[in-house]
Parts: sequence; C-alpha cells; structure tokens
Amino acid sequence: AKSKILICRDIGEQAMALLRAQPDWELVVWPQDSPADAQWVLDNAPGSVGMVVTLGEKISEKVIDAAAVAGPELKVISTMSVGVDHVDLSAAAKRHIRIGYTPEVLTDAVADCSIMLALMASRCVTASQAMLRAGKWGSLGWGPYLFCGPQIGSGPTKKQSTVGFLGFGRISQATLVRMAAFGVTRCVYYNSGRVDRTAEDRALAAKLGLESVGRVELDELARSSDVLFTLVPGGKDTFHIVDEAFLRKMKKTAVLVNPGRGPIVDTDALVKALKEGWIWAAGLDVIEGEPNIPADHPLLHEPRCSIIPHIGSATIETRETMALLCAENLIGGLKEGKIGVEYTLA
Ligand code: GLV
Ligand code: GLV
Repeated sequence: AKSKILICRDIGEQAMALLRAQPDWELVVWPQDSPADAQWVLDNAPGSVGMVVTLGEKISEKVIDAAAVAGPELKVISTMSVGVDHVDLSAAAKRHIRIGYTPEVLTDAVADCSIMLALMASRCVTASQAMLRAGKWGSLGWGPYLFCGPQIGSGPTKKQSTVGFLGFGRISQATLVRMAAFGVTRCVYYNSGRVDRTAEDRALAAKLGLESVGRVELDELARSSDVLFTLVPGGKDTFHIVDEAFLRKMKKTAVLVNPGRGPIVDTDALVKALKEGWIWAAGLDVIEGEPNIPADHPLLHEPRCSIIPHIGSATIETRETMALLCAENLIGGLKEGKIGVEYTLA
C-alpha cells in the first residue's frame, strides 16, 4: 500500500511536483487555495505518515493524536515557515514526530520587510495615504512639517540613535545590518541570555561601524530604543512581553515594529499607547487574533499604525525556496531518515 501524505496546503507547482514524484506516496491535498479546514485536517489525519503544513493550519494535540489512531503513525510534519508555534511541539515530541521547517531562506525578505515597516511607521505613511485617498492633497499642498516623523538613523543632525531588538536571532541580525546603513549608532537587544555573546557583539559592532552592540535587560531595551523590532518566536514564553508597562517606558519618539508574532504585543495596550502618544508609531506585520481581523479593529483606524497582513517573507523567490525546502524536508525525513532542516526543541 502507498503511504498517505497529508498536504494541508498546495505549496506551488515545483514543490508539489517533487512530492508527487515519490512513487510510493499517495498525496491527500486540501483542494482549496485557503488554509485547510480544521475538521478536514482532523478527518484526514488518521493514517498519515507525513504532513505538509503552513501557518494557516493549527496542528494541535488532537490532530496529532488522531494521526496515531489508525495504521502507520505520523513521523514527520514539514512546515513552510520559520515559526513553529502553530504546531503542538510537546505533543509531537511525545509521539516522536519530527519537525521540518524553513529558517534562513526567508531571513533577507523578513529583514527587508522589517525595515519597510520601520520607515512606514516613522514617516506617517498610513496617515499620508489616507489623506491622499480622501482627495485632500490639493487643499493641504506641501507643508514644511506635513507628515514629518523622526529620522531613522543619524541624519543631518548627526544624532545618536539606538536600534533595539527583542530577540537577537538571524532575522534581527540581518535587520541590524540594514539599520547600520541608515546610520544608527548603537544596538541593544534582549534575549534569553543562555549564551555569552560578548565577543561576537564586539566584533559585530566593529564590523558595522557601531559604537556598541550589547545585551540589556527588558527595562533598558524599552527605555533606550529609538526603533524596536520584536523578533522572538511566538508561544507562551513571549506572550505580551510588550505590555502596558513596557510601552509606558518607551520613548515618545520611538517606533515599535512587530514582524514576529502577534501575541508578543498586547493589542489593547498598543492602542492606548498610540492614542495617548506614549510612542510615536507602530509597524505591524502580525497582530493578535490574525487572520480574523474585522474592518473595525482599532489598530486599523490608528493613523500612527502601519499594518500589513503577515507578508514578511512574501517575495516570489523566498516563498518558492521555502516551498522546495519544505518538500525536501518531508522527503528527506521519510525516505532517508534525515530532515535537511529540522526543528529541535532547545
Ligand atoms: C512566518 O511568519 C514564518 O514563520 O515563516
Ligand atoms: C528566527 O528563527 C530567526 O531566524 O531570527
């Protein structure tokens, strides 16, 4: 009998061709170009030895248990994402299910997007576009201080500026390289601090021409960042790290950019922060409760908030590369017992 492979999302021609070329596999593919229906996943999980998933499908303990009910057991879940918070990792580990994921290949695209959000937020793009679309440009004209925002980096005043990172993994570091070109003078970051990076940070500062790069506590991160990027994984360890207390400590001119996961930032607190001017602006690629964001969501109506719908890695090249890697991870895991890029619990 052929092995059943559950494909929760068609991930594109090239990657699907690789999967279809496996002679002893029978692919069961969610037929629509939308996230697979939860009940469909649950109904089709039993007997699957491998799964392809995206962020759109929640692979809960229930799904993982269902996959183990009938016949052969699920061995590999391959996700087309760097984040794995949509998969119940402890349930997977309990059943010795291995996880493939797609880091690194999306680092540049997400770092580019992070810079875009920092610029959109600081330079009042949301408000200026709203004005334009309302047909008001003619009556306003050009104004010396119209839609002005704080300079990202040093600028003509040669001001000191500090870029901050919550989490200092690959994407944060690639974003820092880009920010260095804007003339930021200092970098602070917060991470779990399990590894001493002092020597590497010194070398990084020298390489990028910054005064310093260094780990600080959360308090200091909030207080000193002019632009703050939140690039930690999702999940309960990072839930609402950016809360009301954190936002109140930030500079009034600070820009908060969340390209990571929605629940890192407390939405209610952010709305207050923007309304009451605790910070300058926010740029979000992700938001709590996504993708079910109603048209009347308060952040969609904040002139100082720029929001895009989780498209950080959305370049054609990056997505095609992620899809291929996702297919290869599944094939490697099931055929050779070796997942090219495997997610392992730290
Ligand atoms: C995007 O958020 C990803 O995890 O790949
Ligand atoms: C996270 O995995 C990152 O690449 O920063």
